[in-house]
Amino acid sequence: AADYVPKEGEGKINLLIDLESPKVANMEEMSSGKKVFCRCWLSGTFPLCDGTHVKHNAACGDNVGPLIVTVKSE
Ligand code: FES
Repeated sequence: AADYVPKEGEGKINLLIDLESPKVANMEEMSSGKKVFCRCWLSGTFPLCDGTHVKHNAACGDNVGPLIVTVKSE
């Protein structure tokens, strides 16, 4: 929920990606086609989805999935 505020040390989402960085931010350019971005923070090809969310969901009952971005054709 929007009013959720974790306490110090609680609610950590990223357990794998660039842990030494103060913030993980990525930029991807695309002028055509489709890209599938990871939102579970478990992908071996982060920031792109590698399907690991399927195993995660099956193991713990979560329902996370990727963000799929397409370029609108004119
Ligand atoms: Fe993270 Fe697919 S691997 S959303």
